[in-house]
Amino acid sequence: MDYLHPPGRLRTATDFQPHPDGTLWLNVGDGYARNGGVGRCGPNARVANTRKMIQRRNCRVPRCWGLKDRDLLGLPWRVAFALQEDGWILRAHITWIKKAPMPENVRNRPSRATEDLFLFAKHPKYFYNASALREPSGANLKNYWILGPENNGTVHPAAFPVELARRCILLGSAPGQIVLDPFAGSGTTGVAARELGRKAWLIELNPKYVQLAHKRLERACQRTLWR
Ligand SMILES: C[S@@+](CC[C@H](N)C(=O)[O-])C[C@H]1O[C@@H](n2cnc3c(N)ncnc32)[C@H](O)[C@@H]1O
Repeated sequence: MDYLHPPGRLRTATDFQPHPDGTLWLNVGDGYARNGGVGRCGPNARVANTRKMIQRRNCRVPRCWGLKDRDLLGLPWRVAFALQEDGWILRAHITWIKKAPMPENVRNRPSRATEDLFLFAKHPKYFYNASALREPSGANLKNYWILGPENNGTVHPAAFPVELARRCILLGSAPGQIVLDPFAGSGTTGVAARELGRKAWLIELNPKYVQLAHKRLERACQRTLWR
């Protein structure tokens, strides 16, 4: 939660100064406030092999947020509003519709099958290549993306489909430019960047995932070398 509050607020997003016409593409997962009790869908719930994921996502939140036990955090929009306050221009909200979402064993609300993606710019005029990706009809790309799950050969629990990273890179950069992913995980952004002829800088906190990303990127480099 710290990344909502200065001085810790999304340091990477605000500290790295992008190219003046560069963009920031942000995906943040949501979760539920758990300020007491241990319900079926709370921190102690066991749902197939997703227990750890649920523990991480359902969390105690600062009292100042005024949230009640089991309130949906609304975290993606809170972060988006915080970045607007920091001077970023919020240009689009895209709904990522998951073809095969993580199962949730809940009976008192619909299961979640979407995530949010935001497009930010630093300046009113920025690079956006609308013709790089269009609807099958030729119309401008719409703001809901239906993407399937993907086995990327790693054990990272929250890896994106490559297609998600591919779309952001195609729309937001030109060949030869550099993309930065400060939460690189298994290196999906690096794989997509390599395939699209962009350079990538990847930052990842967990050394285990750094190793995964290394191996995956080596495979991607070999694939693109032999094209
Ligand atoms: C949702 S995952 C990203 C998954 C990635 N898009 C992929 O496809 O594999 C977020 C990653 O951010 C990493 N992370 C969390 N806090 C971080 C920090 N302060 N600096 C760098 N990486 C961080 C986590 O270890 C995790 O691997």
